[in-house]
Amino acid sequence: MSTEPTVPDAPPTDRRPVTLPQIAELKRLGEPIVMVTAYDYPSAQVAEEAGVDLVLVGDSAANVVLGYSSTVSVSMDEMLMLARAVRRGVRTPLLVGDLPFGSYQSSDSQAVDSAVTFVKEAGCDAVKIEMAGLSGGLADKRESVSRARAIVSAGIPLMGHVGLTPQSASALGGFKAQGRTARQAVQVADDALALQDAGCFAIVFEAIPAAVTETIMQRMEVPVIGIGAGGATDGQVLVFHDLLGMYEGHAPRFTKRFAEVRRAMVEGMEAYAEEVRGRRFPGPEHTYSIDPTELERFKEVVSPGRAWEAADFMG
Ligand code: KIV
Repeated sequence: MSTEPTVPDAPPTDRRPVTLPQIAELKRLGEPIVMVTAYDYPSAQVAEEAGVDLVLVGDSAANVVLGYSSTVSVSMDEMLMLARAVRRGVRTPLLVGDLPFGSYQSSDSQAVDSAVTFVKEAGCDAVKIEMAGLSGGLADKRESVSRARAIVSAGIPLMGHVGLTPQSASALGGFKAQGRTARQAVQVADDALALQDAGCFAIVFEAIPAAVTETIMQRMEVPVIGIGAGGATDGQVLVFHDLLGMYEGHAPRFTKRFAEVRRAMVEGMEAYAEEVRGRRFPGPEHTYSIDPTELERFKEVVSPGRAWEAADFMG
């Protein structure tokens, strides 16, 4: 039996890959859209098997996978490596790659190049960028819209992200809900409408009062995926590690734990350590056998006191 690790293709499924028109159709039909983040092959397999509509290789990987204190730190190379792994694990959900900080801020052509790289090198179906409008004033906002238009014009499906945009968290005054005053709420609405106008196929609303989301939804023609934005959106997204309880760091108010996987992982690890220390693992069922005659010949060669003649024996 081979001991080579095997990496099978994405698990077989009779479901067909989710398309952009299907995402738009879900909105039209009023059917909730389910999105989740994933960062590696096993998390992608879980998302595939659970039958979600969209998978985002989020730059939240910076926090929950790579241990950085901010999403600003994650690089293009790191994101691409994670996105490739996720691609190998998902066949059905639409795969969106999150453009990391620094990969689209400089110019429209930088944004297009980065988006193309996510599609060509990691096999993503679409990319996402955050809107800098709220944090940076009009000039930044115009630039974000320009990046969005450039990516869409290059033929790459684009998801926008408004409200709490973690890449500009320090400019926003920290990880705080956005749109809690009339003025801020108008800014969030303006950001969302500008990205919709620029051709985004969907927009993430993060950390926005539910009543503000509900009001903006009256003007939204493209699907809105919420995270901490209430129930009026067309869909929801949560970070994989938050929803499964795999992460011990700060959990924002809007996350809900649907499982306690980290607890189970720690318990499993403790049980393993205990069995190794108690010499109860490995058991006979975890070991390989050798033909008894071969074993006897081998023992003769190795027996203490005998001159070492391995080369002669093998030759
Ligand atoms: O990076 C991420 O996980 C995200 C989601 C919260 C939408 O952008």
